[in-house]
Amino acid sequence: MREIMGGRTLKRYILMGVLCLVTIALIYQFSSPTCFASHSQESQWISPEQFIMSKDERSGETQKFVYNRYMPLIFIGGMPRSGTTLLRVLLDAHPEIRCGEETRVIPRLLGFRQSWLKAPFESRRLSEAGITAEVLDAAVGAFILEIIAKHGTPAPRLCNKDPFTLRSAVYLRYLFPNSKFIFMIRDGRAVVHSIISRKVTISGFDLKDFRQCLKKWNAAMSAMHYQCEQLGSSVCLPVQYEQLVLQPKVWLQKILSFLSVPWNESVLHHEELVNKKNGISLSKLERSTDQVIKPINIEALSKWVGQIPDDVVRDMGSIAPMLSVLGYDPTANPPNYGTADTLVEQNMKHLEENKEDWLENSFFCAKQLYLKT
Ligand SMILES: *[C@@H]1O[C@H](CO)[C@@H](O)[C@H](O)[C@H]1NC(C)=O
Repeated sequence: MREIMGGRTLKRYILMGVLCLVTIALIYQFSSPTCFASHSQESQWISPEQFIMSKDERSGETQKFVYNRYMPLIFIGGMPRSGTTLLRVLLDAHPEIRCGEETRVIPRLLGFRQSWLKAPFESRRLSEAGITAEVLDAAVGAFILEIIAKHGTPAPRLCNKDPFTLRSAVYLRYLFPNSKFIFMIRDGRAVVHSIISRKVTISGFDLKDFRQCLKKWNAAMSAMHYQCEQLGSSVCLPVQYEQLVLQPKVWLQKILSFLSVPWNESVLHHEELVNKKNGISLSKLERSTDQVIKPINIEALSKWVGQIPDDVVRDMGSIAPMLSVLGYDPTANPPNYGTADTLVEQNMKHLEENKEDWLENSFFCAKQLYLKT
């Protein structure tokens, strides 16, 4: 009797156990966010696994590169003409990193999003149409990720350099929670001199007015500086162009360690990899290309001295207060940026001794640029 009862109890327990499991599974199934994600107001952007199949040049094996919004993307930004191209080329020389050319469409899309959200009527229309901030974020994030992943060769660490993306650094970090940012900073007098003398068109900059350009530089730097501060020093690293070219080893070590990428000497000799097969890809149409084909050098540090209208030099501190904030003495013309390390000294000597060759190289670049445009 007892044994039969015991058997029955056991069966009942097993049955209840199975029922419990089925119930839990059903509850889980129907409450799982992936099922009703599109109907929920609190929907999260969960990116599906995306990947690129790519053939490894050395082994000939096909490799699968997975990419998603949680990968540790690298964003390089700052004002144009501040060494953003140089830094991306230096990082591109590292075997684990791929930045590539400016994508141009990423900062534009970020600009569109801003304008949709800012216009009160338009943003109401969008939300009436079910295009909530969450829906937009998912779409914008997917677009940016696709562009970054697919406009160049796959690499363990993908990087993007479109100078003005740094204005949206906080938002980008929200879209890509493990991303890191490098904020390139350069003496505003040198930046504006470069923009004007090289006729670099940037919307809002009047290339005939040094004072106006400096004010614009100040406003842009102030906004980017704020974004970088918001993210904090573990997420956004400010790098001064002058320090990078004077002490490249010190600064590249800092940068790679900030990015948790192992050190590799190749970043000090990018010129050996420029436009080589499996090397660094450059755009014929980017303005900095003719400069970054050279080894790291300090040719551009003080070219602005003596080229700025007197009244602008006199009012420097009030026109561009960000100079002082970022550590540049507005009254020194030029300030003492520091001393070059031995590698840079050697590079400068090499450039001086092979002046003709490098000049020819630059002309070749300029000609190609001209022919393409
Ligand atoms: C540095 O990179 C090269 C490829 O560019 C690689 O062959 C070498 O092993 C790397 N060195 C270190 C120390 O990782």
